[in-house]
Amino acid sequence: MNQAGPRFWEIFFEVYENLPRQGPGNRTCAARALGLCSELRESPAVLDLGCGVGGQTLQLAELTSGSIVAIDNHAPSIERLKAAIAERGLSQRISAIVGDMARPGQPLGVFDLIWSEGALYNIGLRDALRICHGLLRPGGYLAFTDAVWRKENPPPEVKAGFDLDYPTMGWLNDDVAAIRDIGFELVGHFTLPDEAWWDDFYTPMEKLIAELRGKYTGDVEALAILDQLAEEAEMHRRHSDFYAYEFFVARRPLAQTQPEAIKALEPGAPVDGLTPANEL
Ligand SMILES: C[S@@+](CC[C@H](N)C(=O)[O-])C[C@H]1O[C@@H](n2cnc3c(N)ncnc32)[C@H](O)[C@@H]1O
Repeated sequence: MNQAGPRFWEIFFEVYENLPRQGPGNRTCAARALGLCSELRESPAVLDLGCGVGGQTLQLAELTSGSIVAIDNHAPSIERLKAAIAERGLSQRISAIVGDMARPGQPLGVFDLIWSEGALYNIGLRDALRICHGLLRPGGYLAFTDAVWRKENPPPEVKAGFDLDYPTMGWLNDDVAAIRDIGFELVGHFTLPDEAWWDDFYTPMEKLIAELRGKYTGDVEALAILDQLAEEAEMHRRHSDFYAYEFFVARRPLAQTQPEAIKALEPGAPVDGLTPANEL
């Protein structure tokens, strides 16, 4: 995305807020990741960070019988999720909150499962992992997706796209190292299959962009923005072999031994600009 004027963002959100998901992922992958959380409590306390409009939040509500706190800093997405919760009669089980995952305002050490699809990188993966570690109870699980490189020398359009959106994006082993450095046990990981990019993301995106081209007929600026937004799915068609989305499932050990994570939980100790407290 190399255009960031107000009109760009208006149309960007007109597209993204109307998609079932705001990034790659689908129900099958969510179920597979959940299956890796083999010792999850029967009715887990779940925290969904960067939930967007809640595509995966609603799926988690079907796949588990627990309670879910879903947080995103984009208020219109939370409004949409609230409407979906009300429509499905799920307000006893899901709370949708506008908030910053860097300071989620949730109690430490209580969550059985933290879920985050395509969102942790926004606050820096390592900082996000530290925050999740503190919020999980010992033995609790973290399931998250993250974009990773899978081939050297990406074409300029791929490099430019990720330089803008995720300049610190690493390789699979970088994420595995971060998970372990922060004090998690890696339970497992798998690469999202191509359909997970299309089912709830690029296919509805392309359909919506085609509809909006009709709505904006004659509006040269809007049509140019739609062309720009359409490039992402096209890039994926051509070059998806250079990058992937990986689903990671990690666990906060029952007995913590990793010094970095322990340090991060000392009350008042600053952690890369974040101040841990009893509540984050
Ligand atoms: C790629 S979207 C993924 C949304 C959703 N998890 C999904 O997979 O459909 C990333 C989400 O993270 C949210 N986000 C970015 N930075 C955030 C922050 N600091 N705190 C909370 N949410 C944030 C964005 O608003 C966006 O909804």
